[in-house]
Amino acid sequence: MLKAEYQTRGPIPQDVIDAVPLELGELGDDEVLLQLVGSPINPSDVLTLTGDYGILPPLPAVGGSEGIAKVIEKGANASLEVGSYALVPFGSGAWATHFKAKVDELTPMPNAADPLQLAMLGVNPPTASLLLSEFVNLQVGDWVIQNTANSGVGTYLIQLAKQRGLKTVNIVRRESLIEPLKAMGADVVLVDSDQLADEVAKATNDADIKLAVDAVAGGATEKLAQVLAHGATLVTYGAMSGESSQVSPMSLIFKDITVRGFWLARWLQEAPVAQQQALYQELAGLIASGKLATPIDKTFPVSDIKAAIEYAVQPGRDGKVLITAE
Ligand SMILES: NC(=O)c1ccc[n+]([C@@H]2O[C@H](COP(=O)([O-])OP(=O)(O)OC[C@H]3O[C@@H](n4cnc5c(N)ncnc54)[C@H](OP(=O)(O)O)[C@@H]3O)[C@@H](O)[C@H]2O)c1
Repeated sequence: MLKAEYQTRGPIPQDVIDAVPLELGELGDDEVLLQLVGSPINPSDVLTLTGDYGILPPLPAVGGSEGIAKVIEKGANASLEVGSYALVPFGSGAWATHFKAKVDELTPMPNAADPLQLAMLGVNPPTASLLLSEFVNLQVGDWVIQNTANSGVGTYLIQLAKQRGLKTVNIVRRESLIEPLKAMGADVVLVDSDQLADEVAKATNDADIKLAVDAVAGGATEKLAQVLAHGATLVTYGAMSGESSQVSPMSLIFKDITVRGFWLARWLQEAPVAQQQALYQELAGLIASGKLATPIDKTFPVSDIKAAIEYAVQPGRDGKVLITAE
């Protein structure tokens, strides 16, 4: 049994984390032993290793924040059957081969067509869903624009928008993504360029775009602002460029754009529990039935955590990178 632990934080994330032995002790009567099935490496997990995220756990800590695990052994009185799935216990650090938990502390998951897809339920699907619902009262047929359209959040947003009758303009950094994103339900996919504003106008027939969602920041924010309709809203929820957001005064003054930010962690602190449960139940159902998915590029075992992080921070991946038990 192993866990991916870090004792310090630093600028090169794979340098601070290492796979070390994990001791779990005896299994209690009301406990189950779970084996990790999968846990994604999200950008927020990397920022947690470098010390740049909004909340940082005390050290030493185990990396990773979400995932799915399978029950492999149960205590005499534990009600969860061997072979059933549950989310990795919240706050425990997800990059470990095994977990021990009391059944009432676990969130059971349905047996899914692809359990690795359910491993990514916690962070990106609700973010995509809430970006579409919490800022603008979008109506069927309305347009939304986003960058990082091939990211986890971006691909969920394409599929959820389609299911809600919304239209999407999607910005990516390479041409090979155009057809796969269209197959997922994207209406327009454009490769980023200096002619983006003209290309968006042409591809949408000069549609009024009411919402832009930005995970890049820097100059990418202004590129979105330039194509928005008067009175539209721009929400920044990520900063993949590592730069400060730029919005020209002309976009603010002449179009009266509203600029907002979104952080799922804050929403989870503030939204009523019933609303949170309803959202996760809806998304888990869509994922378990295969109606909501994101591409997976590669998996790495916990023992290979350094190589996994090094790989995950490279640009141009074909999907998410997940950590597995072996
Ligand atoms: N605020 C919140 O609550 C919240 C919640 C979830 C996620 N997020 C944020 O959402 C963003 C996406 O997360 P994810 O897990 O969906 O990402 P992901 O699947 O790991 O994909 C990363 C994406 O970022 C793009 N990218 C990387 N560096 C870039 C750069 N310098 N300029 C432009 N694009 C760049 C990649 O494009 P290529 O394929 O071209 O390299 C890819 O589309 C991250 O910033 C994350 O922190 C925020």
